[in-house]
Amino acid sequence: MKNISKIFAGFLIFCLVSASSAFGQNTLPYLKKQGDATQLIVNGKPFLMLAGELHNSSCSSLEYMAPIWPRMAAKNLNTVIAPASWELVEPTEGQYDFTMVDAILDGAKKSNLKIVLIWFASWKNGGSIYMPSWVKKDYKRFPRAVDQQGNPLEILSTLGQESMKADAKAFAALMRHIKEVDKDQTILMVQVENEVGILNSVRDFSPAANKAYFGQVPEDLINYLTKNKTNLIPELYEVWSKNGFKTKGNWEEVFGKSFVDVKNWKSYSFYTEEIFMAYHYAKYIGYVTAEGKKEYNIPMFCNAWLKQPDYPWTGRFPGGGPLPEVMDIWRAAGPAIDFLAPDIYYPDFRWVMEQFDRSGNPMFIPETSGGASGASKMLYALGEHNIMGFSPFGIDGSNQMSAGPAASDPLADTYALVEGMSGLILEHQGKGSIRGILVDNEVPYQEFEMGDYIVMADPMSSGRPATAQQGQGMQQQNISGGFIIQLGKDEYVVLGRDLNVRFKPKTPGDLPYIGIDAVDEGVYKNGEWVPGRRLNGDETHCSTFSGTGLKMRGMSIQKISLYRYK
Ligand code: DGJ
Repeated sequence: MKNISKIFAGFLIFCLVSASSAFGQNTLPYLKKQGDATQLIVNGKPFLMLAGELHNSSCSSLEYMAPIWPRMAAKNLNTVIAPASWELVEPTEGQYDFTMVDAILDGAKKSNLKIVLIWFASWKNGGSIYMPSWVKKDYKRFPRAVDQQGNPLEILSTLGQESMKADAKAFAALMRHIKEVDKDQTILMVQVENEVGILNSVRDFSPAANKAYFGQVPEDLINYLTKNKTNLIPELYEVWSKNGFKTKGNWEEVFGKSFVDVKNWKSYSFYTEEIFMAYHYAKYIGYVTAEGKKEYNIPMFCNAWLKQPDYPWTGRFPGGGPLPEVMDIWRAAGPAIDFLAPDIYYPDFRWVMEQFDRSGNPMFIPETSGGASGASKMLYALGEHNIMGFSPFGIDGSNQMSAGPAASDPLADTYALVEGMSGLILEHQGKGSIRGILVDNEVPYQEFEMGDYIVMADPMSSGRPATAQQGQGMQQQNISGGFIIQLGKDEYVVLGRDLNVRFKPKTPGDLPYIGIDAVDEGVYKNGEWVPGRRLNGDETHCSTFSGTGLKMRGMSIQKISLYRYK
């Protein structure tokens, strides 16, 4: 009898374990908070997307993509960002063709890659170029935005209810199809539309838009503002407070009349128009997103074309797009959208990250530049901004990765090192025990407190020449980056590129002096530390003259333990 109950108990435990692991396997990807980080959970575990985005047209040909999938895997990517377009998904109204999406799934699975899918539909880079012919040509049913002079723009009006419903219907069909075919969750998230916002006009001046602009600010926005008054993004709080926190009135009455200040690009010229456009983009895309999520509920986000010094006001950059200064408006009007993400081709990477890393916005970089500088920025962003993924654009082109083997490619090398320790990184994100380092000509020195020590970082020149990043029009300089994780009271691990990382005691206390107990270079293989050289002498900073810490010429992972004495 005893044995029977033992067997039964054993069987029960087996059932529970298999049920829970099966449950873990079948859970759809979702977002989860850990401290002040938000992580993507895949198959029940946090997942770091070491990604790259394909060129816009690559996926439209199966043959073109065939050699690219294995190349992406060979370059140590674990995720590819790939577009599906409305024009190919619904070439005839109501008739769907998922060939493109099925091919993406097939190619990715064969190379053991995950996918972040982009829905190129009503808008791409501000314009409306990816909708099917039957939408493009029916400008009465699917109205265009209009500029101040009354000219139609090649941009769908956000006020077009028929457009919104048609886009949402196609997107819902796509998500329904993905639910049916993607049983092992290759698709992790969806980017809905691409870099939306109005261009060549500060706002939409179509009759419907004018009516809305001079009508009452909608109640859902007013309710959101009132409820979140003390937590609003400061830029928005400022204009609303200047206008007396009005809860009734048209857009200019509630948020003020705009002004032009071309000299100071960070000022909010045409901010009211931007807020107005943001509300209507978020309403439209929020609806499309919600309809898609009804079919298949995975994380969905929007990406932003950034405001830049020479694009100071809405209309010069895509106005109303998912930018930090209108983050609250997007949340109010499009609550189904999980987060806003920056496409970073702008030199001040730190500033962009700080702008988006506000108000609990989950951090992901869907587009940026790769190469050695990109790799340094990724390491910094992993430690300082808890990103859940990083993705240089045009990854299948020659501008992001060298044609040589993975070992000679800075981004591929970095992805390999990060992959091995992704469990450790994810364990520390959001808890204050991981920090990012980024030093360059602008900020040549960084220092911060971590545990009982002050960490100091500056570049260690490797003699690399400055390079111009092709294709992105962005002048690159030598950038050194990394992150540091505190493993114990006196123990740290650093993944760094061209860095000096030195330590000094936070408070002298009874033991005011420090020395290096040991430094080991090594790698993590599936989360396990595999030491290489023991570093000492010339390979460390171990004198009163040069300080105490690590010399990281090129890229390496180094573990350091310190000791104190008097
Ligand atoms: C940003 C867009 O989002 C991408 O689709 C692509 O057009 C790149 N710009 C090109 O640099």
